[in-house]
Amino acid sequence: MRSLRSPLLALLVLAACGGGSDGSGPTVPPPSLTPTLRSLAEDKLLIGTAVAIAPLREDAAYRARIAEQFNAIVAENAMKFGPLQPSRGTFFWDDADEIVAFGQEHGMTIRGHTLLWHNQSGWVFERNGDLQPDVTAAELPAILENHVTTVVSRYRGKIAQWDVVNEAIADGLGAGLSVEGSLRNAAWAKYYPAGKYQWIADAFRYAHAADPDAKLFYNDYGIEGSSSQKAAYALALVQKLLADGVPVHGVGLQMHLSPDQYGDWPLNDDFPGLLRKFTDLGLEVHVTELDVRLQLPATAAKLEKQKEIYQGLLAASLANPKVTAFLTWGLDDGHSWIDGTYAGYGAALPFDASYAPKPAFLGMQAALQAAPQ
Ligand code: G3I
Repeated sequence: MRSLRSPLLALLVLAACGGGSDGSGPTVPPPSLTPTLRSLAEDKLLIGTAVAIAPLREDAAYRARIAEQFNAIVAENAMKFGPLQPSRGTFFWDDADEIVAFGQEHGMTIRGHTLLWHNQSGWVFERNGDLQPDVTAAELPAILENHVTTVVSRYRGKIAQWDVVNEAIADGLGAGLSVEGSLRNAAWAKYYPAGKYQWIADAFRYAHAADPDAKLFYNDYGIEGSSSQKAAYALALVQKLLADGVPVHGVGLQMHLSPDQYGDWPLNDDFPGLLRKFTDLGLEVHVTELDVRLQLPATAAKLEKQKEIYQGLLAASLANPKVTAFLTWGLDDGHSWIDGTYAGYGAALPFDASYAPKPAFLGMQAALQAAPQ
């Protein structure tokens, strides 16, 4: 494991984490890192990460690092439609339940991701967003209601916030479209009998009925900068939902970033102003899926740039009291979707594959330490 010489960190052996005692995963527990993100974030905002079920089950060191640093978790895949309802009317709860139990055991807030999406929709839609052959459009309202109601009811009182709808807005649109015109023409939007917008409103209403205390979010990517056309459409969507009396409480900014491809975006695109566009509506904002992929090899200069981005985004989030959660999309570089999706890119997360802290972690610590109580 890489040694860390920062004066910010006191390294203590975390004897309690018991790495490898179950015979799987690393045998050496990671040294503890203080002050922890969760201790610094207390009373400021939720600081969290996405968890994958395999390492959560198999790797005591992974569990220990997450429990030590974060006060919020979200399931990377286990609570999506396909994993939760792998065949019509049959639900599989084991993985999601285990994640909820882990969160509860460690006093964490648990986010739910995601009730409805055009992707990972199991037996309902093909990968391209078309209907599966044995499903009809007329069945979709009942399928949607049953899934949302069943899942949210099961975790009522346990999952504090749900991403109800994920990535509904199309990419690459010009200005001037209606809310309906801005929506992605796939899956629920393409086939829902009551129309491209109505499935979204219905999903929020069913979720609210199943757990009136859960905060309900619209979650998307590419909506993180003030000048983003997609952000303008996300704003129009949530404004319409609010105007229609639909119970929407927040917007999730996914935040999958790439300084090699997009420079400093969204820090150079009035990120505080973007946050205000949503929070001025009375909505909360969560940063839901932050990662900052680097073109490999990850040089010291690139890691420093990555640190600036993590730190800058967290500092701006802390400056707006309606930004109530900040989550990374994974703990460490050994468990990240980036490697399998972007050839030549990686090293996107605040910990390396041995769960040792990277400069990005120090940037998060520094932002939390600098924030007023
Ligand atoms: O679990 C199966 C396994 O049984 C099978 O053998 C294996 C073979 O391909 O696939 C496994 O499922 C994979 C799953 O991740 C779990 O590892 C899927 O193929 C793979 O597509 C899936 O990728 C996930 C992706 O969403 C799906 O589009 C990524 O892990 C996950 O990080 C990613 O997360 C999304 C957010 O939900 C929404 N925002 C964007 C973000 C990144 O794409």
